Amino acid sequence: MAFNIAIDGPAGAGKSTIAKTLAKELGYVYVDTGAMYRAMAYYFLDQGIDKDDEAAINAAVSGADVTIRYEDGAQQVYLNGENITGSLRTEQVGNMASATSIYPAVRTKLVSLQQKLAKTTDVIMDGRDIGTCVLPDAQVKIYLTASVETRAKRRFDELTDKGEPADLAKIAADIEERDYRDMHRDMSPLRQAEDAVLVDSSEMNIEEVVAAIRGIVDEKKGNA
Ligand code: DC
Repeated sequence: MAFNIAIDGPAGAGKSTIAKTLAKELGYVYVDTGAMYRAMAYYFLDQGIDKDDEAAINAAVSGADVTIRYEDGAQQVYLNGENITGSLRTEQVGNMASATSIYPAVRTKLVSLQQKLAKTTDVIMDGRDIGTCVLPDAQVKIYLTASVETRAKRRFDELTDKGEPADLAKIAADIEERDYRDMHRDMSPLRQAEDAVLVDSSEMNIEEVVAAIRGIVDEKKGNA
């Protein structure tokens, strides 16, 4: 049976950075499920669909063929045959992904794709509902979080490092709004699975978080 590691947590907690590093260390495949919700959101935006129009979203879902490939170990997301990986990490697409991931038609489609990927492959999968819904039998479950202030500051630094304009208060407000939506939707809301280990990275750097989670994985595998 494949070894599955689930990492859930709110936006900006560092899940993808940590999961990518750990996947490399362990030789596992890193599955970024947020990128799949972003790909669907990208499609809805491209089609001019309103985030609140559930009927239009339901009708559009079947037109969005989202597939995942791994090229040089990195996840590439294809939408209807086109590699759109580079267009997914904008605030606009992230907010649309949060808003449209509440719909069962969107979730059902992507969850089955994620479960197929994890069935035969050792994966580290990150998202919001991995430990609670997608991979309930994952051998390791982590709930990675950090304070809103820390997450907003990290995002602010990331944008300013790239020379992009950034407004700390606006970033913090967006994060709070997204947290609320992700945690309060009806279908598989973001919450810590009962058997997940809580890691609060507010006062930790990347190396410390990787080491902490690596310790949990090694213990589970009997390598500690
Ligand atoms: O992790 P991210 O910021 O790329 O995710 C974008 C949005 O997608 C997030 O706000 C909620 C949704 N999402 C989800 O509902 N379930 C997941 N497993 C991953 C992401």
